[in-house]
Amino acid sequence: MIFILILSIISQILCEQTHEEEIKRDYCQLPDAVLADGVSATDFGTTGWNYANANNWDEIVVTCGGSFQSPIDILTSSATQEAIQPKIHYKNKASDVAYEEANKPYTKEYEGEYSEIDVTDASGLIVRYYAKQFHIHTPSEHTIDGKYYDLEIHFVHQAIQDEQQDCNKVKNTLTVFGLMFTESASASDYEVFKPWFDQNVTGEVESFDLNDFFQKMTDTTYYHYNGSLTTLPCSQIVNWIVFYQALPISPSQLNQFRSTFTDSTVFPLKQNNRPIQHLNGRKILKGTAITTGVAEIPNLEASYAFLVLVTLVMNGLFL
Ligand SMILES: *[C@@H]1O[C@H](CO)[C@@H](O)[C@H](O)[C@H]1NC(C)=O
Ligand SMILES: *[C@@H]1O[C@H](CO)[C@@H](O)[C@H](O)[C@H]1NC(C)=O
Ligand SMILES: [Zn+2]
Repeated sequence: MIFILILSIISQILCEQTHEEEIKRDYCQLPDAVLADGVSATDFGTTGWNYANANNWDEIVVTCGGSFQSPIDILTSSATQEAIQPKIHYKNKASDVAYEEANKPYTKEYEGEYSEIDVTDASGLIVRYYAKQFHIHTPSEHTIDGKYYDLEIHFVHQAIQDEQQDCNKVKNTLTVFGLMFTESASASDYEVFKPWFDQNVTGEVESFDLNDFFQKMTDTTYYHYNGSLTTLPCSQIVNWIVFYQALPISPSQLNQFRSTFTDSTVFPLKQNNRPIQHLNGRKILKGTAITTGVAEIPNLEASYAFLVLVTLVMNGLFL
């Protein structure tokens, strides 16, 4: 009898977990035939778009010739202070949602879904997004005062549609965080990058916490502007938040990324960064994120998976 009771409790727990996994979120529609990173992987290659024809993407997709394209050079002296102080707060969250390798031919990318974030977009509106994927570029795509960094990670968040949020009011369907990295001989390897390269680690990340990166920042200055995807179809739907302080990356991990882009027909410079685009009069805003209240640095190898909640809390005046 007790045995049956225990069995039924276990099966109930299992059912609940399965049920949770099946929760489907509604995302705000992306305007073009945009997949997670902007374009179907099959469109990339010698006959499609690639980094040899990166100056002519507008001949493939007209949007790539638009006026609000990314990446840009961030001229720090031209940036105006924005009247908000975003508070970046990460919560560890137990979850069985993993990041999976996306197998994109033009980047290294994990796709998944973790906690909601509230972000102030470049029109001053607070928008609710879900983190969907992150991927890398080397060297950086954005430059800061003309300077390239060794690597840039893009954390891509997509706006959601529900009773509280109407997608018609969302100007930028995506918010992307750009984080710079500089090679450093004293840097230790990031656990989160290992599944991409280490044969002994499966191609997915069970848990991942942005704290790991942000806690290494002593300066949380960011630059904020309206821009686009930096891959086809270059959709002008991105609320860009580019952080100023570069984080260290070990020479061996940087080389692992660099050695990914060696096919010279599609990566003539062995790089996967789009050239800098014209600013065309766009404003660049500047701010400092507050990172108080952050929990201790989580151990990525911990047996229990947790995921991240990033909350940018408005504190002060709207624009
Ligand atoms: C971004 O675009 C929105 C909508 O067009 C506009 O209201 C806002 O001022 C722009 N932000 C910046 C920083 O230019
Ligand atoms: C994988 O594991 C084996 C056995 O433990 C070890 O000898 C090898 O060095 C590991 N390979 C990598 C790439 O870490
Ligand atoms: Zn990117």
